[in-house]
Amino acid sequence: MQLLKEKVLNEGIVLSNQVLKVDSFLNHQMDPVLMKEVGKEFKRLFAGQKIDRVLTIESSGIAPGIMTALELEVPLIFARKQKSLTLREDIYVEKVFSFTKQETNEITVSRKFIQPGERVLIIDDFLANGEAAFGLARIVEQAGAEVAGIGIVIEKAFQPGGRLLKEAGYHVESLVRIAALDNGKVTFA
Ligand code: G4P
Ligand code: NA
Ligand code: NA
Repeated sequence: MQLLKEKVLNEGIVLSNQVLKVDSFLNHQMDPVLMKEVGKEFKRLFAGQKIDRVLTIESSGIAPGIMTALELEVPLIFARKQKSLTLREDIYVEKVFSFTKQETNEITVSRKFIQPGERVLIIDDFLANGEAAFGLARIVEQAGAEVAGIGIVIEKAFQPGGRLLKEAGYHVESLVRIAALDNGKVTFA
């Protein structure tokens, strides 16, 4: 997606050879015009598939998620992150380990918002090791629903998440793929 590549080149800040800061349009300030195009692009990439709901994770997945759900005219659900939890029967819970933050969060979705047999499109802002995406997929599967696909705004292709998700059989579409963040410079795949 050319518009997104330009945004990454013009406004992205390479913090290290692992981390790209995009807080001017995705992770803090959000660019609604860009997010609208992101939603249209995911609609195009997953065209022809039956999609009943979009699922993302708070907080930065919500903007691309809601714009995609708007294009598809289906509801958006965002998984909530919690430190630890007393067991409850009305929610799905999965553990997600963040390599970036070196901590485990529990992510939760209310059982009433995913029904068995539904097809759910997963959307997220970043793909690194794939932990968040796999956690969301496990929640969909716990519900007896099916993952229609996984749409990622920015994939760091030098980390293994994209490969692992594809090996697991998921249809993954990333709007931009970054091959490297070496020497303070973004190189696209
Ligand atoms: P993974 O899910 O693919 O395994 O990734 P990881 O645990 O490493 O990601 C932890 C958090 O860091 C996630 O946000 C993820 O979106 C974000 N992240 C990972 N790599 C980058 C990067 O290079 N740049 C930026 N800007 N973010 C990155 P989160 O903690 O869930 O935060 P948020 O959704 O509230 O923003
Ligand atoms: Na994030
Ligand atoms: Na995220």
